[in-house]
Amino acid sequence: MENSFWNKWVEKALSKLETLKVLRSLRPIYVSSNEQMQQQQTEPIDGYYEVFDEMQPWDRSSVEISISDSTFQRWLHEIPSSGDEIVCRDAVANQKPRMCSGQFKKLLLFSGNDYLGLSSHPTIGKAAAEAALEHGMGPRGSALICGYTNYHRLLESCLADLKKKEDCLLCPTGFSANMAVMVAVGSIASLLAGGEKPLKDEKIAIFSDALNHASIIDGIRLAERTKSVEVFVYKHCDMSHLNSLLSACSMKKKVVVTDSLFSMDGDFAPMVELAKLRRKYGFLLVLDDAHGTFVCGKNGGGVAEEFNCEKDVDICIGTLSKAAGCHGGFIACSRKWKKLVQSRGRSFIFSTATPVPIAAAAHAAAVIVAKKETWRRRAIWNRVQDFRALTGVPITSPIISLIVGSEEKALQASRHLLKSGFHVTAIRPPTVPANSCRLRVTLTAVHTTDDIKKLVAAITGCIKFEGINYHSSNVYAKL
Ligand SMILES: Cc1ncc(COP(=O)(O)O)c(C=O)c1O
Repeated sequence: MENSFWNKWVEKALSKLETLKVLRSLRPIYVSSNEQMQQQQTEPIDGYYEVFDEMQPWDRSSVEISISDSTFQRWLHEIPSSGDEIVCRDAVANQKPRMCSGQFKKLLLFSGNDYLGLSSHPTIGKAAAEAALEHGMGPRGSALICGYTNYHRLLESCLADLKKKEDCLLCPTGFSANMAVMVAVGSIASLLAGGEKPLKDEKIAIFSDALNHASIIDGIRLAERTKSVEVFVYKHCDMSHLNSLLSACSMKKKVVVTDSLFSMDGDFAPMVELAKLRRKYGFLLVLDDAHGTFVCGKNGGGVAEEFNCEKDVDICIGTLSKAAGCHGGFIACSRKWKKLVQSRGRSFIFSTATPVPIAAAAHAAAVIVAKKETWRRRAIWNRVQDFRALTGVPITSPIISLIVGSEEKALQASRHLLKSGFHVTAIRPPTVPANSCRLRVTLTAVHTTDDIKKLVAAITGCIKFEGINYHSSNVYAKL
């Protein structure tokens, strides 16, 4: 659904930038010498990327990992470590860095964000390697200077299609994408106030879920520094609280920003209710779909696709570092918003562009999981079903939050799992509020039912499923 007021405000902000001659352009450098790559638009040529229709042995290296015995011992006894224990000192002195050989412990990883197991996909590795051999690694500069190429443009088009948006802007990371959006949102108030400090009702009212990701919080903090936004934190996923804050707010320019799938709790933002409230109040809806992209929705379009409300989302932020198994962030939005973010979003403007091999790899990943290897999405949701059936815990996503309370309890549980052969980290403040320390368990498409059975058996040895909290909705961090 079009947001006519917001469209007008963005247009006005853009014409102000034009008058000030600070509207920025992206001018891609054409680096591709690969004929097939040149021919590709957003649709890949059939057979260009090798795909697989079921799990392969190499898939398991996404979850079967090793740590050195010394790292294992330090972790077990909570001895502080900076990773030094695996680098041979004499080798460093001889300018030939080498890892110390020794004993290793094999662990099964249940703590990553590589939801579809793509970090070890050979086609994605090959796309990166070919691009690296042809074009090298260094992007040479930020996107606005000289770091933006036809590889970046191709990936942006592909992501815009996936998110059903007009356009997309790549950012160095998901963190910087959120920062850039929040700062660009704030810039509208000062641009429309003609560079003066905006009056109270000219400011932008940002309504932010209490458990939003740190990058959203930091972006809002930065926007707040310019005195152009007022912030209202609503209780986690509490739509009646949001409704009462919205109705009590007389400021016209309203923005609601939320994670789609909460990274530490594993619950979904109430998308349908948010869409209803958007129709009622005409706010700009900004969604951080870092954990939902490629995982949720029939086409991997994310949480908005899953809840059939893609049109109600104005700006969708995502990352390529999780389910895409690569690196980098993106902002899917209208062309106008893209122009504004690329001209005002400092974390986009002042940071080096994504390296070409990463853009090539992410393009391969997006094509593979969004369009070809759909079995991966089926597999991860089957593992969610396995966990639910084995434990009776009513989880709704691959992120499982087992809240145990104190730091010591969380650390103890993590150590117990470590001894049992599982890599599951304890999550503590400031990542989560005090006394809601937890084990964050993440399931992936390349875990098997047997893996889940073994994990559940090990968890039963340190935590009682009956007495546990699954969501921390009654506790929240302050902005
Ligand atoms: C909800 C959410 N948003 C944004 C980010 C940042 O993404 P990136 O790791 O690509 O910087 C994360 C990463 O942990 C996240 O969980």
